Amino acid sequence: MLRRLHPEQPESFAFTEANQKWAEAQLTKFPEGRQASAIIPLLWRAQEQEGWLSRAAIEHVADMLGLAHIRALEVATFYFMFHLSPVGSVAHVQVCGTTSCMICGAEDLMAVCREKIAPQPHMRSEDGKFSWEEVECLGACSNAPMAQIGKDYYEDLTAERFGEILDELAAGRVPMPGSQTGRYASEPADGLTSLKEYEAGRAEHNASVELALELGDTIKRIDGTEVPLLTPWQRNTTTDAEVEASAAAARSPRPAEGVPADKTGIDKREAPAETKSKPEYSGGQAHNADAKPAEADAAAGSAPKVSDEPMEEGAKGPKQPADEKAADDADAATRAAASVRPEDARKPEALDAPREGKADDLKKIKGVGPKLEALLHGLGFYHFDQIAAWTAEEIAWVDANLEGFKGRVTRDEWVKQAKLLASGQETEFSKRAKY
Ligand code: FES
Repeated sequence: MLRRLHPEQPESFAFTEANQKWAEAQLTKFPEGRQASAIIPLLWRAQEQEGWLSRAAIEHVADMLGLAHIRALEVATFYFMFHLSPVGSVAHVQVCGTTSCMICGAEDLMAVCREKIAPQPHMRSEDGKFSWEEVECLGACSNAPMAQIGKDYYEDLTAERFGEILDELAAGRVPMPGSQTGRYASEPADGLTSLKEYEAGRAEHNASVELALELGDTIKRIDGTEVPLLTPWQRNTTTDAEVEASAAAARSPRPAEGVPADKTGIDKREAPAETKSKPEYSGGQAHNADAKPAEADAAAGSAPKVSDEPMEEGAKGPKQPADEKAADDADAATRAAASVRPEDARKPEALDAPREGKADDLKKIKGVGPKLEALLHGLGFYHFDQIAAWTAEEIAWVDANLEGFKGRVTRDEWVKQAKLLASGQETEFSKRAKY
């Protein structure tokens, strides 16, 4: 089964304020350098927020974790738990089509989906409430055929019973999940042959069904006011106290404290202080595949200078010619940075601490997440105006010295964004993003 990103994608993604706090708290649960391990919960939270995973959401999570986008795309496109296209507002039905289920009637179940939901997988029903797809083995093979609806398993299905279940869901009721033939768990279909003494005194349902009934979030139900009923974790919005508690826990001794991460390419820890103050150019071109060709004069060694014109403090409102010139200069410097020779790259002026003890929120720059912001602070960059003033040679230096994030400055045009933010204006990204 092919898993492809949806052809229509939103331009951007940002977590809600509560989800952003929750996501940042997740990062503190892992040893330094291992934050990539938070990828599944963060992608899941993004999906819970939007209903499906857009490319922008996947890349946003990758940026938060300091991962190359492809690493997050690999995860999101591998697991069927992640929906790569919009799904039904009430439930998404995943019919297992692997061997056991196929032998036991999965084709019949998919015929029911075609009839009651939509003729093709990944299409939504006419009312937009349901969608379906065929998936690979979901690990309930002994109770085949089965389907996952929302978050619960429905097992030992027949086409007739499956049709009834979909009708019940469409009517706003949630059928009891688990085996539909009365099997307790995965014992033989005609009853236990051993360990029969355990039948007496057991709970009415197996643990999985009990939990599903307790949580009650099989489907995203709409109540009388058409407001979606939220999942338990959405109801329990992360509070500041919870975030602080999580951060406090992170400050206590942590797993693998002091143990270096291995060389798998996910070690994003900051360089030691002495190498931060005098970093050496690590070689390699300070550009990525998306970088545009340099201007001819830059290639000849005369990289255009960023405007020295002072920016008006707190300037707001419509763009003035000076702003346009500054933006053009920033574009030119960014393009020229791609062709700066390594030996010409030079470190921009850095600060020991933020001015007046307060740094700008560098996360307002598209492409800068909490890890990159911390990395920039470690290099002595705290303010938009510092970044706005970087020349081509300085951009090349920073691009080459952002460990694990090489090429970000040029790719996301930080200087251009920083010029706007430093002058008190907002960028398209900073307007949309929540912090
Ligand atoms: S084959 Fe369907 S759950 Fe394993």
